[in-house]
Amino acid sequence: MSLVFAINGQRFELELSSVDPSTTLLEFLRYQTTCKSVKLSCGEGGCGACVVLLSKYDPVLQKVEDFTVSSCLTLLCSVNHCSITTSEGLGNSRDGFHPIHKRLSGFHASQCGFCTPGMCVSLFSALLDADKSQSSELTVVEAEKAVSGNLCRCTGYRPIVDACKSFASDVDIEDLGLNSFCRKGDKDSSSLTRFDSEKRICTFPEFLKEEIKSVDSGMYRWCSPGSVEELSSLLEACRANRDEVSIKLVAGNTSMGYYKDEREQNYDKYIDITRIPQLKEIKENQNGVEIGSVVTISKVISALKEIRVSLGVEKMFGKLATHMEKIAARFIRNFGSIGGNLVMAQRKQFPSDMATILLAAGAFVNIMSLPRGLEKLTLEKFLERSPLEAHDLVLSIEIPFWHSETNSELLFETYRAAPRPNGSALAYLNAAFLAEVKDTMVVNCRLAFGAYGTKHAIRCKEIEEFLSGKVITDKVLYEAITLLGNVVVPDDGTSNPAYRSSLAPGFLFKFLHTLMAHPTTDKSSNGYHLDPPKPLPMLSSSQHIPINNEYDPVGEPVTKAGASLQASGEAVYVDDIPSPTNCLYGAFIYSTKPFARIKGIHFKENSVPTGVVAVISRKDVPKGGKNIGMKTGLGSDQLFAEDFTITVGECIAFVVADTQRHADAAANLAVVEYETEDLESPILSVEDAVKKSSLFDIIPFFYPQQVGDTSKGMAEADHRILSSEIRLGSQYFFYMETQTALAVPDEDNCIVVYSSTQSPHYVHSSVAACLGIPENNVRVITRRVGGAFGGKAVKSMPVATACALAANTLQRPVRTYVNRKTDMIMTGGRHPMKITYSVGFKSTGKITALELEILIDAGASLGYSTFIPSNIIGALKKYNWGALSFDIKLCKTNLLSRAIMRSPGDVQGTYIAEAIIENVASSLSLEVDTIRKINLHTYESLALFYKDGAGEPHEYTLSSMWDKVGVSSNFEERVSVVRQFNESNMWRKRGISRVPIIYQVSLISTPGRVSVLSDGTIVVEVGGIELGQGLWTKVKQMTSYALGMLQCDGTEEFLEKIRVVQSDSLSMVQGNFTGGSTTSEGSCAAVRLCCETLVKRLRPLMERSGGPITWNKLISQAYAESVNLSASDLYTPKDTPMRYLNYGTAVSEVEVDLVTGQTTVLQTDILYDCGKSLNPAVDLGQIEGSFVQGLGFFMLEEYITDPEGLVVTDSTWTYKIPTVDTIPRQFNVEILNSGCHERRVLSSKASGEPPLLLAASVHCATRQAVKEARKQLHMWKGEDGCSDSTFQLPVPATMPVVKELCGLDIIESYLEWKLRSNSKL
Ligand SMILES: Cc1cc2nc3c(=O)[nH]c(=O)nc-3n(C[C@H](O)[C@H](O)[C@H](O)COP(=O)(O)OP(=O)(O)OC[C@H]3O[C@@H](n4cnc5c(N)ncnc54)[C@H](O)[C@@H]3O)c2cc1C
Ligand code: FES
Ligand code: FES
Repeated sequence: MSLVFAINGQRFELELSSVDPSTTLLEFLRYQTTCKSVKLSCGEGGCGACVVLLSKYDPVLQKVEDFTVSSCLTLLCSVNHCSITTSEGLGNSRDGFHPIHKRLSGFHASQCGFCTPGMCVSLFSALLDADKSQSSELTVVEAEKAVSGNLCRCTGYRPIVDACKSFASDVDIEDLGLNSFCRKGDKDSSSLTRFDSEKRICTFPEFLKEEIKSVDSGMYRWCSPGSVEELSSLLEACRANRDEVSIKLVAGNTSMGYYKDEREQNYDKYIDITRIPQLKEIKENQNGVEIGSVVTISKVISALKEIRVSLGVEKMFGKLATHMEKIAARFIRNFGSIGGNLVMAQRKQFPSDMATILLAAGAFVNIMSLPRGLEKLTLEKFLERSPLEAHDLVLSIEIPFWHSETNSELLFETYRAAPRPNGSALAYLNAAFLAEVKDTMVVNCRLAFGAYGTKHAIRCKEIEEFLSGKVITDKVLYEAITLLGNVVVPDDGTSNPAYRSSLAPGFLFKFLHTLMAHPTTDKSSNGYHLDPPKPLPMLSSSQHIPINNEYDPVGEPVTKAGASLQASGEAVYVDDIPSPTNCLYGAFIYSTKPFARIKGIHFKENSVPTGVVAVISRKDVPKGGKNIGMKTGLGSDQLFAEDFTITVGECIAFVVADTQRHADAAANLAVVEYETEDLESPILSVEDAVKKSSLFDIIPFFYPQQVGDTSKGMAEADHRILSSEIRLGSQYFFYMETQTALAVPDEDNCIVVYSSTQSPHYVHSSVAACLGIPENNVRVITRRVGGAFGGKAVKSMPVATACALAANTLQRPVRTYVNRKTDMIMTGGRHPMKITYSVGFKSTGKITALELEILIDAGASLGYSTFIPSNIIGALKKYNWGALSFDIKLCKTNLLSRAIMRSPGDVQGTYIAEAIIENVASSLSLEVDTIRKINLHTYESLALFYKDGAGEPHEYTLSSMWDKVGVSSNFEERVSVVRQFNESNMWRKRGISRVPIIYQVSLISTPGRVSVLSDGTIVVEVGGIELGQGLWTKVKQMTSYALGMLQCDGTEEFLEKIRVVQSDSLSMVQGNFTGGSTTSEGSCAAVRLCCETLVKRLRPLMERSGGPITWNKLISQAYAESVNLSASDLYTPKDTPMRYLNYGTAVSEVEVDLVTGQTTVLQTDILYDCGKSLNPAVDLGQIEGSFVQGLGFFMLEEYITDPEGLVVTDSTWTYKIPTVDTIPRQFNVEILNSGCHERRVLSSKASGEPPLLLAASVHCATRQAVKEARKQLHMWKGEDGCSDSTFQLPVPATMPVVKELCGLDIIESYLEWKLRSNSKL
């Protein structure tokens, strides 16, 4: 029997017996076809990079059904008779790009591009759905949801959402952000064509329709029975063979995203149950609805929304559907089944939403188990019973229609608290309540809670009984909630147990409160949603962009070079390069002990896993080479652990196998034997490092300078805060493309390495040093990188070097694409630190002195940590502290070496400054905004703190920007609106904050080469790497501008003629590294020098021509006269200031839900000084993207390790970067054009990193809201809150953190207060 399907219209036929049934669709697409637009990023259904459109044809209804799925979880065998469409199937560079590709490009919505093909397919699917809907048109509401489950780490989502909305029929063109189709104020939207269904591509080819036939379910490892009877006999046969035949029932297979270890399990039989008609049915009768177990969650949602029985039932089913829309992302719901979800909950304690809400709804489960036959169980019994056997089958789920027999009203509500409001995140706790009520009396009720760290969802029978027949009063509520305290208790080991437990009273209170609260008569209802919770407000935005034509086309918002190619998925990243013949694949074996003797490595069960060819370790370093994995100008690091491990996550060996899957599996099966006897205990904290004097020397040149005399400043102060402490944790890069490299041995002991790196130059040195070969034997090639954020500056080097060493040892090409978990464990992140400060200040709030002690955890090796102290102080100096002194220690610990993540040190510096300002304001009981303003620099104090870096007086724009953003954001008025809101709302509090930033950058030397080819086209090479930051685009603009100086005809079309090509470390020597926000400028400056040389060489020819001459003619002439048309140069910033300052301000307003601790960013207004922007569209993208990454650091991204330093938040399940629903609802950005500055590159400024610091405004606003909540709580508790005003809000301010500060017992306290007040009446 064969497997027949289509990919982008092309037919594929595979012999079923030759297919490993555990092969995923993604593996097939990426490794066995040329289709590379499908990207692997998480491999667990959590990011959307791998999304494809799957189309099925129903021959009876003659209908094609199209929906998105995550190809990393979909099994290849599941797509029999299906058609797959990928982004390059929508359109491509050969056949023409699809309007979606053009739209993403034109809205500047693709930066590194790694997420973009998945975004395009998700949008395409939304357009198809809309097309098939009644109205046939996409609405803005649907458009905003189109990519809600897809992650993007670069853009900050705003431009992606705008690109989606641009297809909506009800969009107001004025509301769309910056794009290349129409300018602001343009009413003509004709260039924004609607999605044309007539011209739409065929998602299901005709030939496949004819091939659909019944499936032979027989004798293969993969079988697809066509009926329950057929399935029964199959199961019976397997059961008879119990010991020999392992089986797996497969529906959508999405559970593999959570139970990753199961992936390695090789079952004898995979039984696809999705082709059994009985299991796909949805039947309705007068008692309820019965849903077949394999019905997908998306279909369940649609069906529930269509139920028409009675108002109460319709409302209830509507709420079930709305809750289900928060389960995972659409591309998971489209393939994951209702039955699969319940089985995960029943068998493996999955924290399911489905189980909780169906439990409250009184659902039943029909199952077929072989010994017992057919059974109908309540969901409660189903969950409680021992885990289902592999042969047990869930047939269907029944949800009853509840009819009130007592003339009472039916109330149903569901709740969940999760890091992301619109789903794509497991709940901390979920709940659903059903009640029959008469006026304010509960006749009876069902109360279900789940996902809080318990075996399965539960019903609270004790409380149900307590409430039955009771009129809801404060006292009853209080007693019910007190009872809850003993019931919702997470199992040991669950994260945030107290927070989870505290949510339960909140939800029950919300539900029952609706029975007693009447807004007109009862003040307690103030600010409470008596209606169901409001959906998040829609996203909106504005951009004010100065266009500077002086250096045309520099300064134009030109679309990113190659953006359409990225959208169609044709852009080639390292893992997209086809594997050379004989290629092998590597995976890292890393240490799990911080300091231990390595006794040996073997594989589990002492058998070599399938496909393993070699295990490469330090013993394989050739003679003359060194065990080096990283070498920079600042030193080197070893590649493999020697006899001892120094940290967890350290590379011990590199297992090489015939496929990436086999290599990963083998690395999982590796057992490292450790011994710790007689060894000192590892250093796992900065305090311990100080105690043991384990410190790195800081090169004096990099040590920042103190300012003024702090003893004097302290003496002048009216008030002092002494020895206050702040702690800051880490953040993971979460680039969408994980670390990857391909090494190919070449003739004469040479090697070519393709590396996804920010530093080809240093990868080059590392490989040569490790292999012990001259540097001219090595070539490192990098075309583009799928996001880096500092994580590929250093940490890419050992990855490339390991591949090179393995390739050299085995004399075969070796590549690796590090899986997400290993990447998270091995690459480290931002520097954690502990700060102790003393600050002196006047009663006016003017600060006179600041003294700091900063202990930075640098990890086990120094690397680029040497820059962190000056970066921290550079950003912290944004305020005039009067005098500033500090003692900074770089602690050497047995923790993973830290890397320089976007705004390294600067983001911590800015935060420290704000924490101090907040503390001063609180202790003086003054408005924090006043304290900020009073301590802003004048130019004179700026020059004192920053010396030469301060530049000329006219360059200091910050203080005027502070006022300007105040006006543009309507700050003062909103402050009073927030105050009023807080006075009249009890359960939601708002905060608003304005924050300034100063960010110092340095320029470094950068090479470039410009060559003109005989047809007049131009090729440019630069030292800088395109990481998504738009470097190539700016370089193209600069080349065009600089060659345009010749002013011959045809130069207007230069942008079309210029191609920036991949970086080749042999061609562009001294390439340095890309980072620090200035590489685009440096590369532009280098290219400008090259162009000036070419202009000089060409000018005499022009003059000799005696009249106007076209570019092409000029070049032909130059070729004829053998003029050298290739110029290279090295830009060195000697003649310019090495450093300059960047300025920005932001105002953010947030709303905190005190019941859940959820913070919604209502509005952010950014004003950022870009100098004369080289490309405002690119800079806008950097500002927004950087801000949202900062939002992740301050609010969402919890980087948690075990006591030995091993990262435990190691997947998309536990590490939550921002999504569309967590960015500011109103996101306004204004770019300031701050005039000429001769010594900067065409007066431009950096935009890549500084705006990340502005996200501190969100944190500060949240702190304000929390402060309001605490005031109220203290009042309820009858406590004096004044002494508490200096509390600290930790970073990240996640929901549990915020809730804890607002009061875990807030509901209890409120009710106690009310009861006390009532008793006094
Ligand atoms: C990224 C992601 C996020 C998620 N977030 C949430 C969330 O927030 N809330 C939530 O509730 N869920 C969440 N889920 C779970 C999701 O709903 C389930 O993965 C999905 O419903 C499982 O259905 P499936 O058809 O893919 O099951 P499969 O993966 O095919 O099967 C799951 C298990 O059940 C067995 N099985 C399947 N069907 C049957 C049957 N009829 N009878 C007996 N055994 C059967 C299989 O053998 C397997 O062991 C998430 C999943 C992912 C991947
Ligand atoms: S790679 Fe499939 S969802 Fe992330
Ligand atoms: S552009 Fe979205 S991840 Fe880079």
